[in-house]
Amino acid sequence: MKVLFVASECAPFVKTGGLADVIGAVPKALAGLDVDARVLMPLYRPMKHYGAKGRCVWKAANLQGGKARLIATKAEGVELLLLEAPHLFDRDGGIYIDTAGKDWADNALRFGALAQVAAEVAQEGAAGWLPDIVHAHDWQAGLVPAYLRQSAKPAPPTVLTIHNIAFQGNFPNDMMKPLGLKPALYTQEGLEFWGHLGFLKAGIAYSDRVTTVSPTYAREIMEPEFGMGFEGLLSARAADVSGILNGIDTQVWDPETDTDLVSTYSAKRLKPKEKNRDSLLQRFGLTAPDNAPLFCVVTRLTTQKGVDLLLEALPALTGRGARLAVLGSGDKALEAAFVAAARQYKGQVGVIIGYDEPLSHLMQGGSDAILIPSRFEPCGLTQLYGLRYGTIPVVARTGGLADTVIDANEAAIAAGCSTGVQFSPVTVSGLVHAIHRACDLFADRKQWVGMMRRAMRHPVGWADSAQAYKDIYTALKET
Ligand code: ADP
Ligand code: GLC
Repeated sequence: MKVLFVASECAPFVKTGGLADVIGAVPKALAGLDVDARVLMPLYRPMKHYGAKGRCVWKAANLQGGKARLIATKAEGVELLLLEAPHLFDRDGGIYIDTAGKDWADNALRFGALAQVAAEVAQEGAAGWLPDIVHAHDWQAGLVPAYLRQSAKPAPPTVLTIHNIAFQGNFPNDMMKPLGLKPALYTQEGLEFWGHLGFLKAGIAYSDRVTTVSPTYAREIMEPEFGMGFEGLLSARAADVSGILNGIDTQVWDPETDTDLVSTYSAKRLKPKEKNRDSLLQRFGLTAPDNAPLFCVVTRLTTQKGVDLLLEALPALTGRGARLAVLGSGDKALEAAFVAAARQYKGQVGVIIGYDEPLSHLMQGGSDAILIPSRFEPCGLTQLYGLRYGTIPVVARTGGLADTVIDANEAAIAAGCSTGVQFSPVTVSGLVHAIHRACDLFADRKQWVGMMRRAMRHPVGWADSAQAYKDIYTALKET
């Protein structure tokens, strides 16, 4: 079985969020199930050196105004098809935003080109490799099924995975022509989304199957509260929509071997975790907690992640003698508010603004608990890292957070199966209540250590979910 993944980011080459982790990990998990998955993605400036060693398997004299090549290579265990188009991807700034922090003005053309090339590979193959299935991810790859639909040539079946329905890729409809999309596709059932050309809409409308990254989020996005305008279309296609939980790369995220930790540890040997905690306290300028947890947050600082609620919960958190270490970047106002909070609660709240992969490992390794108060969360990966590192997740009961953490309620405690704390509604008082519950649980050392060990043994790898993807590919191939 050959599957063409189409995505805009892939760890460890380029990453802005969990999408990259998933694209970097799933093909490796699928390889163990005899699925040959290759990732077609742009060759961005910061990862240019990965293109140097590969071989050219396709080229075009003019792809949206410049030369383009597809370079096949293997790196970090992933088979890659890198779309080299310097006029679109070889530039300073972020992969979606320019140096001033605004979306690139030509994003429709950049990711439209990615989809166009993907559709060509899907139909013609690249150097003899012809996929059985195309698996597109998020709006950046949303046009692939549309290009396949408008072509007369035979095409493989398509799967679209929605990693976050808030990111939709809606553009002015006069982009249809430069993107080479046929006007007949611009209908309510097709590419049109509230008067715009919708890339994610295209993917949802034209792919054979739609998946999202947790069963709860799959249900949520069929409701107006979470569907962000897609609830009607998704409900109409309910039979084709499913939720497959994300996993994590358990080799990259392993407290027994993690080289970013000061001290490695395991469920059996927990004591060394304290050294990571000491190091973290020092790094964030925090004094030792007063018989209370060291909480951490590792996230994009946006309203999705509910971090504004956390700012309001700080009096309660610090009042309990707990400490908080925050690593994040994103919304400028939220960044400033966290920096101000660190000044106000000096020694109790520490904040590092930025993106720091090694530090994110140390935070999982050294904290007692991780706070995730998201207003919505398609899956979430940091709670899975938390479980794996015995860093108890304290999470909003939504999306994948609801599906992966077992709340320490009385019944779960009696049954000995709790792995964290969930709260709902996702409000300041809900969060404050959860922080108090975590502090109470922490005070009972035996109880807490039992929960850490259970969390660490909870399966968070890709085995089941990779099989679930393979089952979908197999079913599509047979129809
Ligand atoms: P999302 O994709 O919505 O941002 P996820 O929880 O799925 O949320 O994935 C976020 C990923 O990005 C995780 O791997 C997390 O560790 C990482 N991450 C987020 N912010 C930072 C940061 N400031 N520094 C390092 N890693 C970060
Ligand atoms: C999105 C979601 C996150 C999910 C990730 C990977 O960025 O916000 O919840 O874990 O994609 O699927």
